[in-house]
Amino acid sequence: MDIKPDGEGVKKVKKIMTVFFAVLFGIAVFGIATTEAADYIGAKKCKMCHIKQFKSWEATTMAGSFENLKAGVKVEAKKKAGLADKDYTHDAGCLKCHTTGYGKPSGFKSIEETPDLAGVQCEGCHGPGSEYAELMKKDKMFKRADANAAGLVIPSEDEKGCMSCHGGDSPFTEKVDPAYKFNFKERLEKTHEHIPLKNPH
Ligand code: HEC
Ligand code: HEC
Ligand code: HEC
Ligand code: HEC
Repeated sequence: MDIKPDGEGVKKVKKIMTVFFAVLFGIAVFGIATTEAADYIGAKKCKMCHIKQFKSWEATTMAGSFENLKAGVKVEAKKKAGLADKDYTHDAGCLKCHTTGYGKPSGFKSIEETPDLAGVQCEGCHGPGSEYAELMKKDKMFKRADANAAGLVIPSEDEKGCMSCHGGDSPFTEKVDPAYKFNFKERLEKTHEHIPLKNPH
């Protein structure tokens, strides 16, 4: 085939370039779509498969944690921590620790818009669940590594996940009362009842 500076040859090159960039664009878009963080789906969605963990978690203070932001609730504890007795239910400074996924696009926004994400729910410790819950649904023998890749957090692996709320700028740390001291090992046990897994993962 002889090379012509214009005509067929140029058209062919243009066509190849167009296809090439279309494929690149496709990879880029698909890549972004698949690596994008999973969404928060709320504890009710985990409940249907993990009823025992749900029921015992529901009995902890974490589940009802949003209530503590209301005026007239835990007045003494608030006073001791230097807080006023007022309505904190729309205060971003409190919501980030007393709700699930606050500040994330699919997380808690306000009690009016996202009541199902109030309190410290499953996904506050296990990570946003839309993708790993799908995986668990499809295959109960799923591999742990695949679940991790889909966003599942195994809380005992990193204390930092807890300390984002239990340390730093929490008004309720051991400086206020030794009862708020965070002992990682002990607290892991008190998150909910732990049931041995049936399948290897
Ligand atoms: C999103 C913030 C947040 C994260 C993350 C978090 N916690 Fe908490 N946790 C809270 C809040 C808020 C309370 C207190 C609830 C209340 O009294 O309002 C609490 C309370 C608790 C309690 C007391 C439950 C009870 O009824 O006595 C335990 C145990 C606990 N957390 C363990 C953990 C562990 C372990 C981790 C990490 C794996 C963790 N938490 C991560 C916010 C969080
Ligand atoms: C950095 C995270 C964080 C922020 C911010 C935060 N809290 Fe909390 N709050 C916690 C944790 C963790 C606990 C539980 C402490 C424990 O049980 O050891 C808690 C407990 C409480 C309690 C229960 C105390 C008790 O003795 O039962 C109240 C009430 C409360 N918070 C109100 C608030 C209010 C109001 C704000 C905003 C002004 C706020 N919190 C901001 C993390 C936070
Ligand atoms: C405060 C943190 C915390 C919250 C909130 C939490 N978990 Fe867990 N979860 C744990 C810890 C800790 C383990 C033990 C595994 C590990 O970290 O090694 C665990 C383990 C599990 C397991 C494995 C089997 C078992 O029982 O140990 C399941 C299933 C589970 N959680 C489901 C849930 C569901 C459903 C919710 C909400 C209703 C929830 N978790 C809320 C901390 C939490
Ligand atoms: C359709 C059912 C289903 C849903 C929905 C579901 N799970 Fe699971 N999950 C499973 C099954 C099945 C297992 C494996 C249980 C076993 O082996 O005993 C599992 C295991 C787990 C484990 C242990 C993983 C490991 O490797 O240690 C955690 C933690 C967990 N689920 C948390 C959650 C949370 C949090 C939600 C909600 C966001 C959720 N799951 C939603 C079915 C489900």
